[in-house]
Amino acid sequence: MNATAVLAYSGGLDTSCAIAWLREDYGFESVVAVLVDVGQELDIEASIARGYTAGADDVLLLDRKDAFADEQCARAIKTNALYEGRYPLVSALSRPVIADAVAQVALELGAEAVVHGCTGKGNDQLRFELAFRSHYPGVRVIAPLRDRIWTREEEIEYARARGIPVTHTAASPFSIDENLFGRAIEAGVLEDPWVAPPEGPYALTSDPASAPAPTEIVVGFEAGLPVSLDGEKLQLAPLIGRLNALAGAYGIGRIDMIENRAVGIKSREVYEAPAAIVLIEAHRALEDVVLTKDEARVKHGLETRWTELVYEGLWHAPVRKAIDAFVDATQELVSGEVRVELRPNAAVVTGRRSPAMLYAEQLASYGTGETFPHEAAEGFIRIASLESELVAARELVFLKHKRLAPPRQPA
Ligand code: ARG
Repeated sequence: MNATAVLAYSGGLDTSCAIAWLREDYGFESVVAVLVDVGQELDIEASIARGYTAGADDVLLLDRKDAFADEQCARAIKTNALYEGRYPLVSALSRPVIADAVAQVALELGAEAVVHGCTGKGNDQLRFELAFRSHYPGVRVIAPLRDRIWTREEEIEYARARGIPVTHTAASPFSIDENLFGRAIEAGVLEDPWVAPPEGPYALTSDPASAPAPTEIVVGFEAGLPVSLDGEKLQLAPLIGRLNALAGAYGIGRIDMIENRAVGIKSREVYEAPAAIVLIEAHRALEDVVLTKDEARVKHGLETRWTELVYEGLWHAPVRKAIDAFVDATQELVSGEVRVELRPNAAVVTGRRSPAMLYAEQLASYGTGETFPHEAAEGFIRIASLESELVAARELVFLKHKRLAPPRQPA
């Protein structure tokens, strides 16, 4: 062990100040800042320079965009993961990737502590710390923004006094987290749930009112994962990037919700996740024609559970991996194409096809040439209604008085 702290560094004001605090207040001899690229909009040079100005001995930039897309985003799509039915887990998915990268650096350096910039009010502290400890059991975890509450003004003052440049975004009243899969916006005027979200903090989506004319796209899937857009094969990370631009122009994936945080409070959250919403809609539509009724039903229950686990920081839990094994077993044949119309504020599935469809037109059709065994329906329903008939007959015998009670006279 040495007196080194390894910090999950975002390049923003909080974690820049944290570098200085770790030396000045916590007494670390050296601070290594790890900046993990998960597809966020980032001024890399400026962030690295700010890290050194704040006193980091080293600022490491680790590119995890593809790993994030191919593991976390891919699993979220296969699982149709929408927390409380709406939020595609944007921040929750990125935390284990960032935390694992930070913990790995700490392990390699034999560092004493790992550090994150989360406050004590959010879910992210849970996600970081569970992932840190899952990757580096026994490590000391420090959360400077939970140990001491700073106002924005105090932080800005502190940074300026040390020559740490404070950017325009750092001074913004919103707290924003972003990655390839979307953006999460909170605080500022959004804290009043009656106030409509202003246009300002949106970056991935345009106002649906100024959307272009509706257009149709075709998303191709193989084994539950999107692999092409309009016939063009793409790796998942660039596919998500392309689709964010396409669907974002229609304001698709803007989500304004009150959500239940793990720490027991309700919070007002605004998200924009255009590609995530389109891909989950399309994926579900393809599953509709491929999965058996019971696969779909069991999977649906597990999807909710998986989403809650990941939201609450349990990415590394064995049960999450066990659910993944079930999900993977259902996805083998989820291949095909989905037509999606992009409209203002909506991704509307207009068609789906798969070589592995269980949907059989000759059985479902009301037209000529259909092959449904109509004669078998009578016997099927006769048997299915046996129990209902027994219950009704029993009621006639034992609950006669109830049934035959004279109707009440109207007043
Ligand atoms: N409430 C969301 C979640 O728990 C978003 C958190 C984003 N963090 C932030 N600093 N804005 O996943």
